Amino acid sequence: MSKGRFIVFEGLDGSGKGTQISLLADEMKKRGRKVYVTAEPTSSSTGGMIRDALGGFVKRDAFELSALFLADRIFHNVNPKNGIKFFIEQGIDVICDRYYYSSFAYQGIDADLDWVMDMNLNCREIIRPDLCIFLDADIDSCDERIEKNRFDREIYENKEMQRKIRNRFFEVFEKLGDSENIKIVNAAREIPEVLADIIKIYDSIKEK
Ligand code: TYD
Repeated sequence: MSKGRFIVFEGLDGSGKGTQISLLADEMKKRGRKVYVTAEPTSSSTGGMIRDALGGFVKRDAFELSALFLADRIFHNVNPKNGIKFFIEQGIDVICDRYYYSSFAYQGIDADLDWVMDMNLNCREIIRPDLCIFLDADIDSCDERIEKNRFDREIYENKEMQRKIRNRFFEVFEKLGDSENIKIVNAAREIPEVLADIIKIYDSIKEK
């Protein structure tokens, strides 16, 4: 049996990841694939600690937060009931809303970027995605979407921080070069147009 594919979506808060993930999942199912959609931070107990920090209820040092995301990501990979590896091994495709690229871009600002990258990329239990789709939209439209959809803002959800994070994402993609399969999609367009590009990219990853 062939293994499932592992696809990650990245982008700023409010870039439309949730919408495009569910549309791509529907499209993949139409093509006969089995799909499991997941997200980070997870709903594990570590994920709960992370959410408290993101909400500003508990203050955490950037290095500490990076380590919490790392622990949550290891759990997300190896959890025997609904971990990423479990599904991939069974031939089920996994789509994940955020992965280690977010740790690089968000924690990589206040913590040491090389250390965050090293911890994640050199951890045997953390698998590499077959594809990372980065939904790129301008800061103002992301901010409008956050305003419409959220009751409270998380610690990173202000324009100045989002601008830094967007720049960091691009620096990180440059640093990673060809070692990762990263595709940047212009997400400041109508939903069907963005989806059409995503499907084309999806079709380009070969059956494993
Ligand atoms: P969340 O509100 O779940 O959703 P969305 O991805 O739709 O914005 O936010 C997750 C937050 O966690 C987001 O602000 C990015 C942040 N994050 C990190 O800082 N580092 C990480 O490694 C991950 C996975 C997420």
